[in-house]
Amino acid sequence: MSKLPSISFAKTDALNSGAVVALVSAKGKLSKAAQAFDKDGQISRAIKVQGFTGKHGSVVEVIAPNAKIDRLVVVGIGNVDKNTEADWLKIGGKIYASTGKSKSVTILTDLGGKKETSIDAEALAIMATGTKLRAYNFVAHKTQNVSKAPARKIKFISSIDSAAKKSWKRFNGVSDGVLLARDLVNEPANFLGPVEFAAKAKALTKLGCKVEILDEKKLASLKMGALLSVNAGSARPARVAVMVWNGGNAKEAPVAFVGKGVVFDTGGISIKPSGGMEDMKGDMGGAAAVIGTMHALAARGAKVNAVGIIGLVENMPDAKATRPGDVVTSMSGQTIEVINTDAEGRLVLADLLWYCEGRFKPKFMVDLATLTGAVLVALGKTHAGLFSNDDKLSKQLEQAGNDTNELLWRFPLHADYDKLIDTKNADVKNTGGRLAGSITAAQFLQRFVRDCPWAHLDVAGTAMASPANEYNRSWGSGFGVRLLDRLVANEYEQ
Ligand code: BES
Ligand code: MN
Ligand code: ZN
Repeated sequence: MSKLPSISFAKTDALNSGAVVALVSAKGKLSKAAQAFDKDGQISRAIKVQGFTGKHGSVVEVIAPNAKIDRLVVVGIGNVDKNTEADWLKIGGKIYASTGKSKSVTILTDLGGKKETSIDAEALAIMATGTKLRAYNFVAHKTQNVSKAPARKIKFISSIDSAAKKSWKRFNGVSDGVLLARDLVNEPANFLGPVEFAAKAKALTKLGCKVEILDEKKLASLKMGALLSVNAGSARPARVAVMVWNGGNAKEAPVAFVGKGVVFDTGGISIKPSGGMEDMKGDMGGAAAVIGTMHALAARGAKVNAVGIIGLVENMPDAKATRPGDVVTSMSGQTIEVINTDAEGRLVLADLLWYCEGRFKPKFMVDLATLTGAVLVALGKTHAGLFSNDDKLSKQLEQAGNDTNELLWRFPLHADYDKLIDTKNADVKNTGGRLAGSITAAQFLQRFVRDCPWAHLDVAGTAMASPANEYNRSWGSGFGVRLLDRLVANEYEQ
């Protein structure tokens, strides 16, 4: 990870070093603090010359306005009452990006006008989140051309600094969860195998989670034959990590998150074409989101009981690898005909869902997986696919998605799609043909859910190879962490 900025909140600042940023709303005025700072009128003149209206995301910059300051930046924040969370995140990212190499950045956030107002505490914390997420850069393996500059200092000046500080405590925990997920997705598979990934899960004990690592002997004794069949061709052993956060009442059933953690997906014997195959180091984006979410919940001390279960395997071709046509027995007892060894994620999730429901009897299960290329064809990189047996859970997820700008789009499940994965040779087969590939994958998963509200998020388009935006420049986006954290915060905290 690149050096992240240190973020703080205060009521005032001497404003005598680094970059000074003033926020101005649409058709708004400079705040009193900004006016006091603008003794010589540079800001007002620059605003006038540029025709600045305070439109969301607009920036006016004055370089080296005096001997003490690097630059003076006015950032438009649009219509404060209408700004969504995504708008605040983007402003945060914009502030970070438009203050260049300044070692310190002081942001005057109070808004001018007849009645001076402050942006609310949560919006301030979300803006801070935007700066932190924007600052992230994966440089773990760069030895050259990498910035050696010390961490930047970012200070938000606000009349409600203590409320903002309190809110930041929560959002900072969530930001760390997002960045953990990004780091894991970005890390290549020669550094991050199942064992190393499991160690990252184990590290959550530091935050107060209970973490169990199930090794191959244990997985075999649990009869997780579907999950183990995916790892059969790997030189490295499979792992399952079970992370438990008990922040709620002892008697409450937990919420459960389940993640596909294929550290690399070659396709196995049904090998993938080589073009772009390097992207399959990110085929653990679901597991990364689950560990990131557990990190977030624990770090911010969420008042909820939550379980995170991730299946960590590597899909490799080998003399020992599973073949097309092989039949494997899942933990549920259902036999699976493996038509295509590249449809491996569903085999991993089949055993995890069965195990999770049986052991924890959760309130619901949400699984996340980079499951199908077909979801990219359908939705591109904006929405993740949502599949569910429960309308209430679906609505809650869609709401959390809209709140966090981690968007979901629901697809149907139907008995007619389910038929497409019937086979004469076993209880079910692992592919359903050319059509409706994301849906038949979800139908497969549903066969391993007994009696529990369940949702499946196909994040193949959103977890990796993400288009750059104001608050993400990283290949691995960390998609799902803010979403699931918000689902919990909206609906399940006691
Ligand atoms: N991990 C892939 C899906 C994927 C594709 C993720 C592109 C991210 C970007 C998954 O294991 C896979 O290979 N799915 C196959 C299923 C098919 C064989 C039924 C697919 O989508 O082609
Ligand atoms: Mn695959
Ligand atoms: Zn895969």
